[in-house]
Amino acid sequence: MEDVNYLRQVTLTDLYTDSVCRKHLPKAGIDHSVRVAELAVDMAVRWGVDPDLAGKAGLLHDIGHGDFIVDGEWSYNLYATGDIHPIKGAERAHQLLVLKGEEMAAAREIALAILFHSGSTPIRPTGDPTPLQRLLAEADDVLEESDGRHHERELSYREGLERIRKLDAKIDALGTAAGAAPPPPK
Ligand SMILES: [Fe+2]
Ligand SMILES: [Fe+2]
Repeated sequence: MEDVNYLRQVTLTDLYTDSVCRKHLPKAGIDHSVRVAELAVDMAVRWGVDPDLAGKAGLLHDIGHGDFIVDGEWSYNLYATGDIHPIKGAERAHQLLVLKGEEMAAAREIALAILFHSGSTPIRPTGDPTPLQRLLAEADDVLEESDGRHHERELSYREGLERIRKLDAKIDALGTAAGAAPPPPK
């Protein structure tokens, strides 16, 4: 199979398969993380936002979630009173992105979109939100269900991996269509 990851420093697959994502994404749900990434890329095309940044922000947006487990079940009440996941997520995502080799400016943009993506923690940008910040918050809102049910939908790691690989291929195809450099000769 042809390598489709030549255009970007860091792919969604690089992030998804890292131990940090494997540990933390299941807390908010692999299904939710993958769905927000997919929707964020679709919205990015419509809004004229960089689909690579949108996909990464979508995939990592809830990486700061805690466990919020009471009596073996995810507790919306505990989440609503004790949550600071945008703060933890912004830092965790930034650290992971930089470790993987992401450009510092891109890592910052993604981390700030994660910091401001949710009303569950009262943090707001000092100026108008950027298009990426608005896009991520809206993508997350669109997929929200009452009582946090969007966090409980099941998707296996392997099924998620297949969808993330497809999303990487889609982002790379968008980059090619937008006039990005052709792949280096093999
Ligand atoms: Fe969130
Ligand atoms: Fe979310």
